[in-house]
Amino acid sequence: MDIGKGTVICAGVVIQPDTIIGDHVIINTGATVDHDCRIEDFVHVAPGAHLAGNVSVRRGAFLGLGVVVIPGVTIGEGAIVGAGSVVIDDIPPFAKVAGVPARPIRKG
Ligand SMILES: CC(C)(COP(=O)(O)OP(=O)(O)OC[C@H]1O[C@@H](n2cnc3c(N)ncnc32)[C@H](O)[C@@H]1OP(=O)(O)O)[C@@H](O)C(=O)NCCC(=O)NCCS
Repeated sequence: MDIGKGTVICAGVVIQPDTIIGDHVIINTGATVDHDCRIEDFVHVAPGAHLAGNVSVRRGAFLGLGVVVIPGVTIGEGAIVGAGSVVIDDIPPFAKVAGVPARPIRKG
């Protein structure tokens, strides 16, 4: 596990092996980030979110409360994922998505 400078890992978080987390990231309360994930700089993973293995979250993306991401998905730079969403496909950069499964609600 590799965690960058200025990154905050809150209480109750679980981070699994071979995950890399960049600078100035927030992994918020009770979130889990499984094996082999790549979390880039300035990402916020909100409380209770769960990322499966091999998920990539690009710079500055935001994952809301309780988001679930299936294995191998890439969430694009600056994308916003609404609370409670289930992400089953790659999310384009700066998209705003929500729902189960997560679908665009508006361009960011
Ligand atoms: C996704 C989000 C950012 C969208 O906010 P917004 O741009 O103000 O969007 P709106 O509230 O105008 O909603 C736009 C549409 O998306 C829907 N929507 C918004 N958030 C949604 C969500 N989480 N799940 C499902 N649908 C959602 C709305 O119902 C609305 O649908 P409609 O056009 O059919 O009426 C916000 O709703 C959200 O989920 N924020 C997460 C907050 C959070 O987890 N914070 C963590 C703090 S630590």
